[in-house]
Amino acid sequence: MRRKLAAGNWKMNGLRAGLSEIEALAKAHPDPGCDILICPPATLISPARAALTGRGIALGGQDCHVETSGAHTGDISAAMLRDAGATAVILGHSERRADHGETSEAVRLKARAAQAAGLMSVICLGESAFQREATNTLDIIGAQLSLSVPDESTGENLVIAYEPIWAIGSGQVPEPHQIGEVHTFIRARLERRFGSGVGRSVRLLYGGSVKAANASEIFAIPDVDGALVGGASLTAADFSPIVSALESA
Ligand code: PGA
Repeated sequence: MRRKLAAGNWKMNGLRAGLSEIEALAKAHPDPGCDILICPPATLISPARAALTGRGIALGGQDCHVETSGAHTGDISAAMLRDAGATAVILGHSERRADHGETSEAVRLKARAAQAAGLMSVICLGESAFQREATNTLDIIGAQLSLSVPDESTGENLVIAYEPIWAIGSGQVPEPHQIGEVHTFIRARLERRFGSGVGRSVRLLYGGSVKAANASEIFAIPDVDGALVGGASLTAADFSPIVSALESA
């Protein structure tokens, strides 16, 4: 049985005052019926860890470098995230692929580094609107999946987030059958590559304009094991109903 996962991606949002939102979320879900992961900016991981001691919310980074340490000004290693209190890291988000030219090969190396440091990687895949119209979405997702995911992956150290780029922050959500088609495809690919044991144990998240109003419908889709949520994860008031919808899915 895969444990459901509600993950929040704060992106470049959040000052220390925002820690109260994580604490409020923890208070609202003292004994959560699903895993909860918040990925705030790296500056907030350590203070959030201190504020959350003993509570059932995990913390993650939003990127890491492939090296453990060294002359890489401005970068953060997986070991540093782990040291600050993170247990996971988002990798290959479309905003990083676009803003920083990250390739799937680079994402795979980062994921290996994260896994070696004991972090769970949440690897993001997704097609653009142009790709959905002009080509075969499943070909795009299949190529990203095989290149971005390391061979060492297991159900514990890998989560895949399917995030159509056109759905991120746009209020546009694919039809349930479109999400289902991609998730079923990813599941089949993982089973083929890693065998059914590992392939069936990797959690698959949907991401892109998930809100309280559409969460239950999305969580009812087969092979959707949770969500990666951007805008609606920034406040406990918005994120808590999404967590609740997942707990009862
Ligand atoms: P959104 O972002 O929920 O604000 O659409 C999702 C994401 O980019 O992970």
